Amino acid sequence: NSTLSVRIVEVGPRDGLQNEPTRVDTDVKIEFINKLSQTGLRTIEVTSFVSPKWVPQMGDNLEVFSGIDKQTGVTYPVLVPNVQGCKSALKAGAEEVAIFIAASEGFSRKNTNCTIQESLNRTKEVIDLAHENNTKVRGYVSCVVGCPYDGKVPPASVAKLTESLLSLGCYEISLGDTIGVGTKSSVTAMLEEVLKVTSPDKIAIHCHDTYGQGLVNILVALDKGVTVVDSAVAGLGGCPYARGATGNVATEDLVYMLEGMGVRTGVNLKELIKAGRYISDFIKKPPASRVNNALYSK
Ligand code: HMG
Ligand code: MG
Repeated sequence: NSTLSVRIVEVGPRDGLQNEPTRVDTDVKIEFINKLSQTGLRTIEVTSFVSPKWVPQMGDNLEVFSGIDKQTGVTYPVLVPNVQGCKSALKAGAEEVAIFIAASEGFSRKNTNCTIQESLNRTKEVIDLAHENNTKVRGYVSCVVGCPYDGKVPPASVAKLTESLLSLGCYEISLGDTIGVGTKSSVTAMLEEVLKVTSPDKIAIHCHDTYGQGLVNILVALDKGVTVVDSAVAGLGGCPYARGATGNVATEDLVYMLEGMGVRTGVNLKELIKAGRYISDFIKKPPASRVNNALYSK
């Protein structure tokens, strides 16, 4: 593998905490994000401006976003589902927003209460609004290999959506294996189809680790030239509308793997482990990161 450096998009505070049953106090979230900001990570997705009726865990989005110490050189994107969320994010001062759309009708309905086409229409409005305000938009495609409601997802559906989101103006598309069912073969097939419509520099990979295939699937993406990888410290999280799905690949495990391959991430593993411990101790769960458990010392 000839990749020299990888940009990690840390999604723990958002993807990780959106599904956490323990109530995490706003000041704990802020301290957690401040610790992450000291690790060398360049991108930290900090919260989502979604409906608090749907995801109460993210109901303190404004307080979190305004409360964190933003470091120069670190970008703090937030997730938005619609124009209402985008307006709130812009008002809060977000410099980057992320929109999300599912590659399967079942998940689109459960997660955002609309069809894929309606979701695309919403997305267009969000992107136009963000761009009028000089705000970059990242796009997520969810369920890129499998859907908890519809089963296997055809690679062609993922490629088509990726193409649509890029043409609407997203600068990068993060391909999400929301329920972590992907394997080397299915992820390869999906990426091959997507890379017929775009180049690897427009793509990120977002693997949940439900079946322990996350790092393998990330390697598959790196081999195809992808250099942006999403992960969550301590392997936090999951999606409230994807029952049984666990968190993303743990950032500590990802950094360890990449360092071992001689790929630069700019992340200080020791500091990352401390940030992972901080939040794991608060929610009273051991980190779902092998590396964190192996290397942590009090
Ligand atoms: P809806 O109920 O159809 O929306 O939900 P609505 O427009 O009818 O609004 C219902 C109520 O919500 C109204 O309040 C709105 O004001 C309010 P009421 O009049 O009843 O008092 N509302 C909002 N409030 C605050 N901020 C907003 C907002 N929008 C509406 N932005 C909606 C549709 C899309 C809003 C809802 O389904 C929703 O919020 N869904 C988000 C679900 C979610 O956050 N899922 C997890 C993130 S996606 C993910 O994890 C996958 C990813 O990690 C990638 C991967 O792993 O694949 C990204
Ligand atoms: Mg996710």
